[in-house]
Parts: sequence; structure tokens; C-alpha cells
Amino acid sequence: MAENNKMEKIISLAKRRGFIFPGSEIYGGLAGIYDYGPLGVELRHNIKQYFWQKFIADREDVYGMSAAILMPAKIWEASGHTELFTDPLVECKICHERVRADQPEAIADHEKTHKKEKVEWTEPVTFNLLVESKLGASEKTATPVYLRGEITQGVHVNFKNILDSMHPKIPFGIGQIGKAFRNEITPRDFLFRQREFEQMELQFYIKPNDAEGDKWFEYWKNFAFDWYLGLGFKKENLRFRQHESDERAHYAKDAWDIEYQTPFAGWKEAWGIHHRKDWDLSRHSEYSKVDLSYYDEETKERFIPWDIECSGGVDRAVLFVLLEAYTEDELGGEPRVFLKFKKELAPIRAAVFPLLKNKPELVAKAREIYSNLKSNFQFQTSNFHFDDNGNIGKRYRRQDEIGTPHCITIDFQTLEDDTVTVRDRDTGEQTRVAVSELAKVV
Ligand code: GAP
Repeated sequence: MAENNKMEKIISLAKRRGFIFPGSEIYGGLAGIYDYGPLGVELRHNIKQYFWQKFIADREDVYGMSAAILMPAKIWEASGHTELFTDPLVECKICHERVRADQPEAIADHEKTHKKEKVEWTEPVTFNLLVESKLGASEKTATPVYLRGEITQGVHVNFKNILDSMHPKIPFGIGQIGKAFRNEITPRDFLFRQREFEQMELQFYIKPNDAEGDKWFEYWKNFAFDWYLGLGFKKENLRFRQHESDERAHYAKDAWDIEYQTPFAGWKEAWGIHHRKDWDLSRHSEYSKVDLSYYDEETKERFIPWDIECSGGVDRAVLFVLLEAYTEDELGGEPRVFLKFKKELAPIRAAVFPLLKNKPELVAKAREIYSNLKSNFQFQTSNFHFDDNGNIGKRYRRQDEIGTPHCITIDFQTLEDDTVTVRDRDTGEQTRVAVSELAKVV
């Protein structure tokens, strides 16, 4: 398969099969905004659930939380975003299109569509990415607020609340998942660079010294890499890259990315691990006039902790999982497309088919098996499909295309011995399984 059109195939499949739709599409769309359909929302949920499990629920040293999206302007002054959360922008003097100056692909696209010799760029200016809004019932009294540009600040401003309510012992972390908003100059590459997107993050607070900093930075770098691999990537498609000093965000003392080898633009950032030192807590102490220090009972010392951050994009994970899973092969002499998701991530765990639609005894038995399966997975009832439409071959192909690992077919033998066929998505092989074993198999 030509790698350069894999992205177009994914975008088309995602829309056709109910994963992801362009935002506000019937009104002409909104650049950099996407909506998740029934299957996309399940895939995204499974990725977030896997983050929550590994970074938060399985650990005794991490707490979960969920902060609000809207925050007062002062928080963003304190965090440095008002002044420094900017990208360089250039404008074409001929057509007035604005493009991010440090994005060679965006510049090249513009020069290609507008014929290079007719393009004339302005000098770069800095452009702030924060999305502003207003709260209040009258124009006069309304106060400016920002939709958070990173979910991080919601954790830092709750640091004292977590200390006072949970009494954690350092080192400890606070994790959360939620939406972030950036007025990206050139949103592009489908879910890769959006204006509204979701992040999953951990802020891990440690004692403020270099030995602790180096130890925990290394620990979380490797932890995040292993977590990403666990989404089902081939190891050769992921790598680390350290940021150059002029590339690091204003808060970072050191920064590494986990990158994915994309078919649309080579190695691209999937995840960031940042050594934020005491930047955020010190600045919020200063701006809010609330003491955000930590008292260490063991050493009888008071200090502002340092923060090691793991920050991943949920939508980028969805995109990269889709790209990694997209497979074209041949089965039974016929070409097919299938999504080779890791089984735990698949939006649909299993599809249940009666062999024939017009045999009520088969349909009733299939319905019974389907309901029993659903009741085994209480909180994931949408993860099963019932389908009696069309011939079995077509039903298999429909499930392959959305990455369903197992198809369960109820036939006449089922009525005699309570066994079904279970077809494996990747090999197409069918095995006979006792109904009582089904929940275990899927
Ligand atoms: N709190 C640190 C922080 O926000 P970042 O590198 O700006 O760091 C973290 O963002 C992650 O969020 C990135 O690795 C990426 O996965 C995701 N991300 C950032 N901007 C994005 C955008 N415009 N669209 C989709 N995902 C984005």
C-alpha cells in the first residue's frame, strides 16, 4: 500500500464507519475540530481507561482528579502562557492566508497551491494560542476567562487542596484526563493538530534536588514509553527524542518526546515528558499569594516540590492507533481491509450472528447469547454487536473493517450441543467453542 494515501484511507474509513466526523459538518465544518461517532468514542474511551488504570488506579502514589476547563486570566499570567504560549506566524501578502512560520509542511502546501512565485510572506510575528471567552451576565461586568491551553494548570492550582484533603507523602502524583484548547494557526493532519483536543497527564511532585529529578525523569520517561507500546505499536515505530534547548516550552528544564513514525510526515510527537522543576508551584504561590510549599514530616523541611510531567494527547493516540492498525491483505482469495486493534482497545469486543435471519430458533438463541455476553461486561454493554443482515461473509468483512476481534455465529449445531463458531479477525480461522466458555474467550 502506498503509505502516503494511508491517511486519506483512514479519514474516509473513520467517517464511513462511525469513528470520527468533521466538526459541525452540515454547516460547512470548523477547521481543527472533530466529532467522535459511536465507534470512535468507544476506542477513545478504551485508550483513556488504559491510561487511568496504569497511571492512576493501579498506583498507591498517584491521585486522580478532574479540573474545570474555564479558568481566570490571572492563572495564565502566572503560568507564563499569556506571555510565552506563542507560535511564530507569517501572512501571505497576496492572499492574506496566515500560516505557522515553523511548519515547513504548511508553508510548502501554501506555496504549492498558490504558485510559489506569487507568494510573498511577511516577517514572522508571535501569535498567542490561548482561546479567550467571557463570563458574566452583562458586557460591562463580564470577566475574561480562558479555555485551558493545557490541562496541567488545573492540577497545580489544586495542589493545596490535594495536600489538605489527602495528606500525600512526597513523592506523589496527580493525574487527569480532559479537554484542552489552542488557537492553532494551521490545524492540519486530521486529529494530529486540532484546536480542541484531549490530554491525559500526570504531574509527579518530588523533592527539589537534581538526584531525585534525574531518577524520576528517567523513571517516567520509560514508564510512558512502555505504556505507549502497550497500545499495540511495533517497537520500531516509536522512539524518544530530546528537545533542543531552543525548542523547549518556557516551563521546561528538560523535555523528551515519544515520537511515532507516521506515514504522512515521518516522526511526529505523540507524548511529552517534561521536567517542570518548581516553575508552576512557585509562580502560583507568587501570583495567588497562597503558600504552595510542602512540609516533609520526615526531614522537617519545608520546600516547593519539583514536578516531572507526563503529557499525552488522547486524539493523537487515537490517530496513531488507527494508523498502526490499518491493514490490507487477502483472505480466501479476496482483498480485504481490517483494523488490527489490540483486542482490549477494539470498540466492539465481539459480534454475534444467527447463521440465518429467517430461522426464529437461531435468532432467539443468538439473542440469548448476545444478552448474556452483555451482562458479563456490565459497564461496557455497547461493546457487543448483534447483526443478522446479509450473508455471513459480508458480516465478517463489516466487522473486520471496524476491528472486531471475534465474530460468534450461532448455527443449527448450537441448538444441539450449545457450541458456536468463533472466528478470529486476524487469521479468519474458525473454532468451535462451548457457549459457557464465550465470556472468557472474548
Ligand atoms: N502540559 C504539557 C503540554 O501540554 P504539549 O507538548 O504542548 O505539553 C502535550 O502537549 C501533548 O498534547 C502532545 O504530546 C500531543 O500529544 C497533544 N497535543 C498538543 N497540541 C495538540 C493539538 N493541537 N492537537 C492534538 N493534540 C495535541
